[in-house]
Amino acid sequence: MDFFQRKIDIQWKGSVNLVTEADLASEELIVHAIRKRYPGHRYLCEEGNRSDAGDSVYRWIVDPLDGTTNFAHGYPCFNVSVALEQEGEIMLGAVYNPVLDEMFHAVRSHGSYLNGKSIRVSDIGDLGNSLLVTGFPYDIRTSQDNNLEHFRRFSLRAQAVRRDGSAALDFCYVAAGRFDGFWEIHLAPWDAAAGALIVREAGGTVSNYRGDSFDLFAGQVVASNGLIHPQMIDTLKDT
Ligand code: IPD
Ligand code: CA
Ligand code: CA
Repeated sequence: MDFFQRKIDIQWKGSVNLVTEADLASEELIVHAIRKRYPGHRYLCEEGNRSDAGDSVYRWIVDPLDGTTNFAHGYPCFNVSVALEQEGEIMLGAVYNPVLDEMFHAVRSHGSYLNGKSIRVSDIGDLGNSLLVTGFPYDIRTSQDNNLEHFRRFSLRAQAVRRDGSAALDFCYVAAGRFDGFWEIHLAPWDAAAGALIVREAGGTVSNYRGDSFDLFAGQVVASNGLIHPQMIDTLKDT
């Protein structure tokens, strides 16, 4: 927050993909904390800090600032997302929105929480009454696989569709019943590791576009309250 809405150093990773000094400072702080507290653990962070040294069964997956484009424009919708993986399974996830002081967290088999209070997905069972959210990949200008056709279809079938620019919060808002469903392609593991667990532990469903099991490294995700999941998968089918 010390960097928010101030003049900060911004660099371009791609034509529309930014990194700011806040992303880098946040990552340094988190990596320092992991190294200090859990020196043997491995970690995988978006801005380049990685350690696969040692044979620890634990690996931290970190997005130090999710929603960088929002952050850089002074739009108050971003978060810090941290997950702990144990032998390929995400065991806990925490997503913090410092603007609203909202901490979402989940521990495997122990439910999901917002600022310590238990949260559940919504109970809307019809896509036509659902509020959905999505995002567009950074290669939208050059790839045919750019979500525009799916966005068109969902816009015609759902009550409304939002595009908020912060994938980890999109998951958490499904978990808290604020959104009924979320879909996106080309997500990185750090965008989804904590959020996917938070949705599942809140009673929701997370899958790939075919409705099969979600793979953190495959980039394709559908997260919902479970009730509208079949209608979402149907909408994503090729014609
Ligand atoms: C991005 C945001 C955005 C999503 C992109 C992500 P970043 O993360 O989560 O909502 O559409 O796919 O890369 O770059 O701000 O950490
Ligand atoms: Ca991200
Ligand atoms: Ca990021």
